[in-house]
Amino acid sequence: MIRFDKVNKWYGPHLKVLTDITAEVNKGEVVVLCGPSGSGKTTLIRTINRLEPINSGTITVNGQETHAKTANVNRLRRDIGFVFQQFNLFPHMSVMDNIMLAPRKLRGMSRAQAEEKARTLLARVGLEDKAGSYPAQLSGGQSQRVAIARSLAMDPPIILFDEPTSALDPEMVGEVLAVIKDLAHTGITMMCVTHEMGFAREVADRVWFLDKGGLLEDAKPDEFFSSPKHPRAQRFLADLRH
Ligand SMILES: Nc1ncnc2c1ncn2[C@@H]1O[C@H](COP(=O)(O)OP(=O)(O)OP(=O)(O)O)[C@@H](O)[C@H]1O
Ligand SMILES: [Mg+2]
Repeated sequence: MIRFDKVNKWYGPHLKVLTDITAEVNKGEVVVLCGPSGSGKTTLIRTINRLEPINSGTITVNGQETHAKTANVNRLRRDIGFVFQQFNLFPHMSVMDNIMLAPRKLRGMSRAQAEEKARTLLARVGLEDKAGSYPAQLSGGQSQRVAIARSLAMDPPIILFDEPTSALDPEMVGEVLAVIKDLAHTGITMMCVTHEMGFAREVADRVWFLDKGGLLEDAKPDEFFSSPKHPRAQRFLADLRH
């Protein structure tokens, strides 16, 4: 579903942030991406839907080379859900309108259809009662669950998460992870940057470990957590345990 082939990226002439990334994610798989701060996780995930350009190599999504000059960027972004650390809900719109916006504008869905879809999605993230609320009236965990529902409104075959729980108070992390867990292995292809190693162990099909722009491990969670091959991954896990 997603394939990286010798992807390299620099920020400016001196800072190399991705080095020869070669890996793939199969349809329906869950990949957790971890690594130290500044290792390139956000950059890597943003290259998939072309929020960041790359300098060499190729990224293929569902058979389409995404950084090709002829690629349809709008369509690409429509087909890939993206959930950030900061939920970025539209503050002047109700929860319902936040979720209905893209299907209405980009899919031309009727109001009734979009409403029905939004209600189904709100139920899925456990927030039926918040349909008429505004973002300022929600907790961080609720906001992030709405943001996930909003991403799902376009029925994306792929959803990307960049530290979806790291801006949350600790007591709200669980409710958001539970929603993401529910979504995993339902057919959608998922990549998630997170430091929640319990989640990774439980949900991931593969764990990718990135350090200084290099993909040092691409392993099953069991292998990664019990016997990481690379010393830098061993150190990273030891640091997390402290
Ligand atoms: N727009 C930018 N311009 C220049 N350098 C950048 C830019 N964005 C990120 N960087 C640098 O690229 C490197 C990788 O950053 P990136 O945000 O991808 O790391 P990360 O693994 O997501 O880190 P964190 O865990 O802190 O979120 C870092 O050295 C960062 O300072
Ligand atoms: Mg990041």
